[in-house]
Amino acid sequence: VAGCGGSSTTSSDAKEIKIGGNFELTGGVATFGNSAANGAKLAFKEVNAAGGVLGKQLVFIAADNKSEPSESTNAITKLITQDKVVAVLGAVASTNTLAAVQVAQDNKIPLITPTSTNPRVTVENGKLREWVFRSCFIDPFQGSVMANFASKSLNAKTAAIYTDNSSDYSKGLTEVFEQTFTKNGGKIVAKEAFLQKDQDFKATLTKIKAANPDVIFIPAYYEEVGKIVKQARELGITVPLLGADGWDSPKLLEIAGAAALNNAYFSNHYSPEDKDPRVVKFVEAYKKEYGQVPDALAALGYDAAMLLVDAIKRAGSAEPAKIKDALAQTKNLQLVTGVITLDANHNPVKSAAIIELKDGKQIFKEKINP
Ligand code: PHE
Repeated sequence: VAGCGGSSTTSSDAKEIKIGGNFELTGGVATFGNSAANGAKLAFKEVNAAGGVLGKQLVFIAADNKSEPSESTNAITKLITQDKVVAVLGAVASTNTLAAVQVAQDNKIPLITPTSTNPRVTVENGKLREWVFRSCFIDPFQGSVMANFASKSLNAKTAAIYTDNSSDYSKGLTEVFEQTFTKNGGKIVAKEAFLQKDQDFKATLTKIKAANPDVIFIPAYYEEVGKIVKQARELGITVPLLGADGWDSPKLLEIAGAAALNNAYFSNHYSPEDKDPRVVKFVEAYKKEYGQVPDALAALGYDAAMLLVDAIKRAGSAEPAKIKDALAQTKNLQLVTGVITLDANHNPVKSAAIIELKDGKQIFKEKINP
């Protein structure tokens, strides 16, 4: 790519370091993409204010993947071939990141997803994707945390699972929850599925209700989860409803309403209530910048940006290959959502938080270590 577009400098000896963001800025999971991008922007702003990296300022270029896999492929291609970024952050949703990883591999540009928890993002069929990294835990951990919470904390003996079949994230979590819950001696009494953009869930929820489960696990994103929770309560389903990080959006409360969300729990990457000084400092800075409490996506977006900055510093270079090698060596990096040491599969091993929804508020229930 050096010398393309009439410029005589390569991306690595330019005066600025360009970083791309492939995010869901509009569409079905727009609150996710905007939070993650805002978190990353705040991190780069802080780093630039402190003098930049290697004496250069960081320039963040965000592209909208519209919450669609094909648009995610387009967005990362544009960032790499036209904008000539040295690394890409994003996407948020696992399916959208899976649509981008091959472009990063082919162009030899590091990709860090702040939030995609499906294991296949970094390792497919036992083969590591050398250029792909993440700053979040993975679903085998998250799914087992929720299954154990159902068996041990809620004493559930039976469960139903309601899966979003258009999402790799949802399908992956379904498998892990089923395995762990069954291993704990529990029984899955109903397994049903829907697709993104569905509106009416009542026929399926009626079937689930007839199976009389102690809990219902709904590993999906806020837009559909909001409607499902609302319709489930309207049908008189009162049992605990369980979810995962895809529930973390202010829109969930808007769509479902506070009352329907009582007796609901989900796993997440951090809680803004955590008294850890790093969390407190980040929450203050984010509130000052955007006038909102940062959700987990904002915290992970910030952490993904800091993970990249740390790698560029240690590499002493903004050359993509050197950044990639430094990323793989990341050890004991203290960030907002925890301490990051990347394992051989480019995954951090980090704790999860269980959040209870109560009268429209998120209550930090417990922290689960791996
Ligand atoms: N983990 C989700 C996925 O892989 C994305 C997500 C992360 C959503 C954090 C909300 C909060 O698709």
